[in-house]
Amino acid sequence: MHSGDSAVPVITIDGPTASGKGTIARHVAQALGWHVLDSGALYRLTALAVQQAGGDGSDARQAASQARGLDARFEDGQVFLGDLPVGDDIRTEAIGVLASRVAAWPEVRAALLERQRSFRAPPGLVADGRDMGTVVFPDAALKVFLDADVAIRAERRHKQLIEKGISVNITDLLEDLRLRDLRDRGRAHAPLVAAHDAVIVDSSHLGVESVVQQVLGLCRARGLAA
Ligand code: DC
Repeated sequence: MHSGDSAVPVITIDGPTASGKGTIARHVAQALGWHVLDSGALYRLTALAVQQAGGDGSDARQAASQARGLDARFEDGQVFLGDLPVGDDIRTEAIGVLASRVAAWPEVRAALLERQRSFRAPPGLVADGRDMGTVVFPDAALKVFLDADVAIRAERRHKQLIEKGISVNITDLLEDLRLRDLRDRGRAHAPLVAAHDAVIVDSSHLGVESVVQQVLGLCRARGLAA
């Protein structure tokens, strides 16, 4: 696996859980005709593999070996583990929590580093996650840190889950997001933090389209889009 072509431009979109990074990354990538990397999906796939092997994420070596051996493919907007599409199996709150737990192990992060960099391919890549601008693509041409108030993020996630027919209690969801934020921001390795050269965008009171337009405006200002 090669580590990506450093001449290919990258836009990173980092931020806390449910800040809308994935949606914004997809829209921006589509507008530019670039590739997209949902790095959280790799941590979620690792968590699913750990769970399927009967683990609970407390064994760093086991989790790292699952991460290294991941037979993951992204095709037509779908995620496959082996030949099976994982569908919404990696989008549950339980897998999100386990993903946040395994992501705290430096061994797991190291195991996924080159795999993430290999998504860097012409004409460009939009990568979303927690450490895209700080660790994985420190030379990105544009770094965005997308934040939003935790109560608003909980409401958005609640609405998304209801739309998928998954019923959850909003108070539990809010507590879950708070705990995940604490773990992602507080971990020793590659914590969730805005890169020193990131542009901070607060989406608490902005719709998807205005955030996308703001990011595309930043791209134009840097000569990344016409
Ligand atoms: O973005 P997400 O909710 O799908 O990510 C799931 C978990 O994976 C998140 O709680 C932390 C971890 N993660 C990470 O540590 N680094 C990334 N670049 C992406 C996700």
